[in-house]
Amino acid sequence: MPFKISSFEEYQSEYKKSTANPEAFWDDIAKHYQWSKPWDKTLEWEFKTPKVKWFLGGKLNITENCIDRHLKDKGDQKALIWESNDPNEESTSLTYNQLHQEVCKMANVLKSHGIKKGDRVCFYMPMILELGISVLACARIGAIHSVVFAGFSSKALADRIKDASCKMLITSDGINRGGKKIPAKTLVDEALKDCPSIESVLVKRCCGLEINMKAGRDFEIPVELEKVNADCPAEPMDSEDPLFILYTSGSTGKPKGVVHTCGGYMVYAGYSFANVFQYENKDVYWCTADIGWITGHSYILYGPLLNGATSIMFEGIPTFPDAGRFWDVVDKHKVNQFYTAPTAIRALMACGDQHFENKNLSSLKVIGSVGEPINEEAWHWYNDKIGKGNCALVDTWWQTETGGIMLSGLGKHSPMKPSHAGYPLPGIQTVLLDQSGKEIEANQQEGYLAVKFPWPSIIRTTYGDHERCKNVYFSHYDGYYFTGDGAKRDENGMYRVIGRVDDVINCSGHRLGTAEVEDALDEHEEVVESAVVGYPHPIKGQGIYAFVIIDSKMQASEEIKKSIIDTIISEIGPIAKPDKIQFVSGLPKTRSGKIMRRILRKIAEGDTSNLGDVSTLIDPTVVEEIKGGKV
Ligand code: PRX
Repeated sequence: MPFKISSFEEYQSEYKKSTANPEAFWDDIAKHYQWSKPWDKTLEWEFKTPKVKWFLGGKLNITENCIDRHLKDKGDQKALIWESNDPNEESTSLTYNQLHQEVCKMANVLKSHGIKKGDRVCFYMPMILELGISVLACARIGAIHSVVFAGFSSKALADRIKDASCKMLITSDGINRGGKKIPAKTLVDEALKDCPSIESVLVKRCCGLEINMKAGRDFEIPVELEKVNADCPAEPMDSEDPLFILYTSGSTGKPKGVVHTCGGYMVYAGYSFANVFQYENKDVYWCTADIGWITGHSYILYGPLLNGATSIMFEGIPTFPDAGRFWDVVDKHKVNQFYTAPTAIRALMACGDQHFENKNLSSLKVIGSVGEPINEEAWHWYNDKIGKGNCALVDTWWQTETGGIMLSGLGKHSPMKPSHAGYPLPGIQTVLLDQSGKEIEANQQEGYLAVKFPWPSIIRTTYGDHERCKNVYFSHYDGYYFTGDGAKRDENGMYRVIGRVDDVINCSGHRLGTAEVEDALDEHEEVVESAVVGYPHPIKGQGIYAFVIIDSKMQASEEIKKSIIDTIISEIGPIAKPDKIQFVSGLPKTRSGKIMRRILRKIAEGDTSNLGDVSTLIDPTVVEEIKGGKV
C-alpha cells in the first residue's frame, strides 16, 4: 500500500480499496508511523452517540513521529524556517536536531511548572518559533494544547481558557502584525482577571513592549529554559487520548472546543499532507496560515513534520511592507509548495501585477487554497500569474472538525477545474444529501455535503459537552457526519463546495456564527435587538451585515455605530467587525418569533426584487422599511 500516491490511476484504485475495506486500508497506512505499542483493533464506531475510536489500544507519541524518527537521516535538515514580520530581519531556522532539543527543553519547563499529561495549556501568541516549539512540547508530555488565535479579544480568550479549565497560558509581550504592535500580554492580563484555573504564565518577549510580570505567576521563557536540560522522553499516549482542543464557531451558542486525538489525527495529518502537496525530499513548503487555526496545526506543524519536511512559519501579513511580501518569501526560500487562502489571493490580485513581476516564482510546483470557496477569477489569477500555468493548483476543502484535508487534488496527479475542490481523498466517503437526508446518486446536482464513514481524524467530541457534538454534527441526518456546507458534483463527480448552508459566516476565511456576533452586539447598552447575516464581499468572500434596533430614545448616529463596533471588538475581536450596520425599527419575524434571515440576506445582497413569500410575517411593513433604509 503506497503512503504517497503517484498517479491518478493509483488514486482511483486506492480510493476503491479504502472504501471496500477501510480498516485494512488504514491499518496499512498507520503502519508507516512509529508506535510504541501496536493497536489491537483498528476501528470502533457508531454515528448516533457518536462514538468513534481508531487504532484502539495503540500507544504512540506524535512528537516522536514528527521529530525523533527523522533524527537519524535528517538531523541536520531544516525542520522549521522562521520568517519575520520585518522583511529586513534575518530569517532563522531549526534543524530537526535543534527542534528536538528545544522541544525537550520546553517540555521540561512545562513539567517544572507542574504540567502533566491531560492538563490543558492555552496559547495566545504570534507566529514565532516558540509557539511551534511549545505546542510540540505539550504533545511531548501529553498535555492538551488549546491555541487561541491572537486576534481574539481578552474576553474571547477568557471564555476559551475557562471552558477548558486551562492550567497554564503561554504568550508574548506583544505581536508584530504589519506596521502595528498588538499588546498581547496586556490583553492576557485583562483576561486572567477572570480565569482562576491559570496557575502560571510563560512569556516570550519579541516586540520590545513594556509589560507587567506578576510575581509568582508570570515567568520569562528564556530564563526558565536555562534551568532545565534537554532530556525529555516522550510520554506514551493512548491513540484516543486527546492531543488538542481548538475552538471554532457554529450556528448557535458560544464557540465550541473541537477535540482531536493522538493516533487518528497523526495518521491522517501525515497522510493527507504527503498526498495533497506531493512533498518530495528537500522541498521547501510554506503554508501562510496562523497556528491559531486548524490549517496551521495540521499543515504548518504536524503534517509537514510527520513527513520530515521543511516548513516555513511566517510572522507577517501579505500586504506588509507591500503586496509583494509573499512573493519575496517564495523567491528568497525557493518555496516548492505554497498554501494560502482565497481572501489573500483576492486582496493581492487587487494590488496589481507589479508586485510579483520581478520575483522568481519558478520553484513553485504546487499551489494550494483553503478556507472558503475560491471564485473563478481568483482561481485563474492564482493559476496563471502565480503558478504560471505550470503548477498543480489544489483547492482543499476541509474543516476544523475534520482535522485534515477531505476534498482536493493530489498535486499534479489529479484533474484541475476552476473553483472545484475535486475528489475525496482515499478513505473519505463524502456524499450529497437532499432535504430529506437521502443520498443524491446523480451528478450535476446540488446537495448537503456529508460523510458517511469515519476517517481517522474526525472530531471526537466538543470539549466538556458531548451532547453538543452529537446535535451539531450527527443529528441532522441519521448515520452521517453533517458538514454544514452545500456542494455540487459535476458530470465527472468533481465536487464544488458552494458555502455554508447554516448560520455561519465565512469572513476572510474566518468562521463566525451569526448568533455569536448578535450576542456580542446585544451586549451594547443601546442595542435592543440585532440580526446578522453574511453578504458577498469582493475581498473577504463574505462580509458581515448587521441589522440593529437601538433604544427608541436614541438617535442613530455615527458615534453609536462606532461604539457598537468597539463592543464587537472587545467581545470577540476585530475579525468580527461588521462591514455594514443598518439601523432598523423592527426585524422581519414570523408569528413564532423567528427572524426570517432569508429576507435579510436578500436585502444585504442588494437583491430586493423578489423577496419571496412575506405573508407569514407578523408585520410585513418592516420589510419595506428595511429595503428603503440606509447603511
Ligand atoms: O465552509 C467551508 C469553508 O470553511 C469551513 C471550515 O472552516 P474552518 O473550520 O475554520 O476551517 C478552515 C480551514 C480548513 C467549511 O465548512 N471551506 C474551507 N475550505 C474550503 C471551504 N469552502 C470552499 N472551498 C474550500 N476549499
